[in-house]
Amino acid sequence: MAKGLDIGTMNIICAEKEGEDVVFMQQRNAFMNLDSNDLTKNMLDTSKVLYIEEENGISLLGEDAFKFATIFEKEARRPMSHGIISPKEKEAIPIMKLIVERVLGKPRTKNEVLCVSTPADPIDVDMDVLYHKKTMEALAKGMNYDTHVIDEGLAVIYSELSDYNFTGVGISVGAGMTNVTLAYLGTPLMSFSIGRGGDWIDEQVSKSTGLPKEHVTHTKEKNSKLSKQVKMGSPEGALTIYYEALMTYVIQNLNKRLAKITPPKVAFPVAVAGGSALPEGFFEIFEKKLRESKLRVEISKIKLAKDPLHAVARGCLIAARTQEEGQKTGALTQKKEKEKK
Ligand SMILES: Nc1ncnc2c1ncn2[C@@H]1O[C@H](COP(=O)(O)OP(=O)(O)OP(=O)(O)O)[C@@H](O)[C@H]1O
Ligand SMILES: [Mg+2]
Repeated sequence: MAKGLDIGTMNIICAEKEGEDVVFMQQRNAFMNLDSNDLTKNMLDTSKVLYIEEENGISLLGEDAFKFATIFEKEARRPMSHGIISPKEKEAIPIMKLIVERVLGKPRTKNEVLCVSTPADPIDVDMDVLYHKKTMEALAKGMNYDTHVIDEGLAVIYSELSDYNFTGVGISVGAGMTNVTLAYLGTPLMSFSIGRGGDWIDEQVSKSTGLPKEHVTHTKEKNSKLSKQVKMGSPEGALTIYYEALMTYVIQNLNKRLAKITPPKVAFPVAVAGGSALPEGFFEIFEKKLRESKLRVEISKIKLAKDPLHAVARGCLIAARTQEEGQKTGALTQKKEKEKK
């Protein structure tokens, strides 16, 4: 058995196979502090809420942190920002460890293969992903998984472009970042990330309309629609403006990066995924912008992932299963060669 794990700024998602189906376990990558007393602890234990005890109280984790934050009118905190462990949150690593343990569970077999997604190096913010990547890898290895790490954009290619021999461009528009990979026959030729995603949209809309950021996120996720006719002054109008600005920015950066490589002369399909690609109308606008952009490579099909929120985890699972198959075949060949001798 193999598993795929997508560790994102907003969501941590595990994918595994159950019979013919792929099933997903998902938690919000969030926490919230509460004052502790025995009553709350008992209550949390009986209701199987994920929490951690600390010096000054307790922290609720994952989905529950989010639910309780609304009830207590507090802000849920995030262990990650811009796609990597937040340097501002000291408790980030132990908190994420617990959330990862909850979604991933223990390995069911010895040397179970796990593929974890990590962001590629960002090109527009002064940030390095190495510490995040190595920490997440160590965390999964510590849980006794045979852990492999792949770029988030490549995971989108594994999930969505199997019909194209894993050649193409994979784009994941997440919360903290947007990740892009160009691959040829499953081999990445170029990967990069930009420090803009859904969080950036929420911040910009909040700044321009004066509405609290949480309110903007809520409206964005609830309405989940980009209208062509922008109603001036409405949060929906501002959302469309910043969504379009993000798309233009992603395409411009893709073109800049393409100028630095010499890709093979083939037509590349493009797959777009991530939670921020969910709103109705997103894909149509993105496709139009991409077609009009005079990209440095020829583009064939442009597609939206079947399940944009889960595509990265699914791609990681496919990569893990491929790795596991390869190991089995390798072991079998070695055995046969030994027998021959
Ligand atoms: N229905 C929806 N409509 C619009 N946006 C949505 C919807 N559901 C989720 N989002 C947005 O998608 C983003 C989360 O997507 P995703 O889970 O792909 O990000 P992530 O993987 O956690 O982050 P990252 O990859 O940047 O680290 C958030 O900005 C969230 O507000
Ligand atoms: Mg992501």
